[in-house]
Amino acid sequence: MKNALVTGASRGIGLAISKKLHSLDFMVHGIARGFENTQEEDLFSSTHSIDLSDLGTLDKQISLVLQRIGELNAVVFNAGVGRFGSLEQFSFSDIDNLLSVNLTSQIYLSRILVPKLRKQGFGRLIFIGSQASYEAGRNGAVYCASKFGLRGFVLALRQSLARSGIQVTLVNPGMTQTDFYANTNFEPGSETSQHLKTETIADVIEMLLTVPSSSVVDEINLTPANHVIHFKK
Ligand SMILES: NC(=O)c1ccc[n+]([C@@H]2O[C@H](COP(=O)([O-])OP(=O)(O)OC[C@H]3O[C@@H](n4cnc5c(N)ncnc54)[C@H](OP(=O)(O)O)[C@@H]3O)[C@@H](O)[C@H]2O)c1
Repeated sequence: MKNALVTGASRGIGLAISKKLHSLDFMVHGIARGFENTQEEDLFSSTHSIDLSDLGTLDKQISLVLQRIGELNAVVFNAGVGRFGSLEQFSFSDIDNLLSVNLTSQIYLSRILVPKLRKQGFGRLIFIGSQASYEAGRNGAVYCASKFGLRGFVLALRQSLARSGIQVTLVNPGMTQTDFYANTNFEPGSETSQHLKTETIADVIEMLLTVPSSSVVDEINLTPANHVIHFKK
């Protein structure tokens, strides 16, 4: 069976992708800070409670995960946090935390995994960026910095790995109905055309898995048909 590693697998987009991979007969290995509230925990072959903002321990923790997995066919770098507001509303530690989870941990994780995948000579690295990876938004300076940065990293990594047999793709979703908006003062519109469903993003991942290793889908932008932001009272 094929192995897939998914970060931020406990809920939202990562959980939908994990379900899809499970339905495609992958052994799915999930990473998040916790899986206590994940109803569908059975779908995972293993779950790992790792805080990706804890950069100093990542090498050791991910190495332990990899010891339990043989060949690694796909990695979905999905974990991420959203915090929005004017720059003055961010403490230095808020900035560090957001950049650590959304950007630096993705680079560290890639640094740990790429040597293994190079040795194998195959593997798919799929990163979940955002519409905020290519479009700046008011109140999104730090989030956009993390996602624009991720885009630069991923597109360059795709070039670096061109001869390795490893396919690198960035998927940039627009507003998607998840817990991401639990602590924000806005959310996507509730009508069907005003938000993405997590299952739609999972379907895109399924499509990417069918692309032959001689080709690479560099980047996909996927947005709701009708871009509507609803401000909470
Ligand atoms: N929802 C949207 O509109 C939207 C749009 C574009 C892009 N995205 C991106 O899509 C990705 C998933 O977002 P989502 O909407 O599914 O959000 P979500 O429902 O809040 O899920 C976030 C996931 O990331 C994990 N996570 C958060 N902080 C973590 C940390 N420090 N260490 C390890 N895992 C951590 C969470 O698990 P724990 O809390 O258990 O750690 C959870 O599994 C993010 O990268 C986000 O930027 C979302």
